[in-house]
Amino acid sequence: DMGGHDTYMHKEIHEQADAVDRALRGRIDDRFSTVHLGGLNLDARDARAVRRVKILGCGTSYHAGQIGAQMIEELARIPADAEPASEFRYRNPVVDPDTLYIAVSQSGETYDVLAAVQELKRKGARVLGLVNVVGSAIARETDGGIYVHAGPEVCVVSTKCFTNMVVSFGLLALHLGRTRDLSVADGKRIIAGLRKLPEQIAEILANEAEIEKLAGEYADAKSMMFIGRVRGYPVAREASLKLKEVSYIHAEAYPASELKHGPLALIEPAMPTVAIVPDDDLLEKNRAALEEIKARSGRILAVAHQVQEKADHTIVVPKNEDELDPILMGIPLQLLAYYTAKAMGRDIDKPRNLAKSVTVE
Ligand code: M6R
Repeated sequence: DMGGHDTYMHKEIHEQADAVDRALRGRIDDRFSTVHLGGLNLDARDARAVRRVKILGCGTSYHAGQIGAQMIEELARIPADAEPASEFRYRNPVVDPDTLYIAVSQSGETYDVLAAVQELKRKGARVLGLVNVVGSAIARETDGGIYVHAGPEVCVVSTKCFTNMVVSFGLLALHLGRTRDLSVADGKRIIAGLRKLPEQIAEILANEAEIEKLAGEYADAKSMMFIGRVRGYPVAREASLKLKEVSYIHAEAYPASELKHGPLALIEPAMPTVAIVPDDDLLEKNRAALEEIKARSGRILAVAHQVQEKADHTIVVPKNEDELDPILMGIPLQLLAYYTAKAMGRDIDKPRNLAKSVTVE
């Protein structure tokens, strides 16, 4: 039942405020400025003993893991990174007992992720799951974890589950941080930020008509460039994947600073750039990148907290805490992908060549 929406993708994009609300519900502990994650199975002493975090997933779940790794580094100051699960399991990785491994998956059935979990378990590692489907294979094989509570996701292209994964990583980062050096004040600041998310998501979605219009402006592109820096880079990668999957327009994602090392050669009016420009300590650096693109007569669509003069168009999103901004900045770009694909008459819920869960190698 699509409840009045023309596709599941559109329905699921619009379910995000409620989905995030569900991910937060019953988990926030105001008294100690932390969160309770019932199924984590990791006591304070275990949490303090973690020396490194390694996050494994595929596709969109891998991108959520990249944002999660940054949140864990920023809030808990534990070295963290994300890697595609298949790469990890094919390279005979060093499995370290002081590393906390986290497997991320919507379906909980993705074969490459499951096989990585099984390999890790065989080598004695502690593996948590960050999973949507309750009771799925990955949820059962892991030592504990977090259900992201996005609700059923039908569209092959993941939207609301991505958002809830990133929110769940925010909860985990806060939890790990509060067993270490994150102050009560910072805990309070992050909790207040998390609580603002559902309303801010609703605000972004209310802007839908503007994004539909913009999709019309860019639908003629043969190829699109997505750029971001640090917090914005995984947002750019996920937005680029979304556009590719539903519209079949070729897209590339690069860290903004890498442009001048090669991809700048591609910039011309036929290759527009989508730039993630949060209002954080890297704002001036990001503005400089916009100038470089403009100087090569590239068209620019910015997703930012304030209108960017160098951009042809800016989608303004509400500001949250710096660490949580990535959760919101990708949402208008889900709509951009959706409306671009719609204008092109694509089969939005079932893009060619793709399946909702990839249970083969
Ligand atoms: O079910 P999973 O989260 O493990 O699936 C992983 C990927 O196959 C999935 O995210 C894929 O990239 C989607 N089509 C993204 O929209």
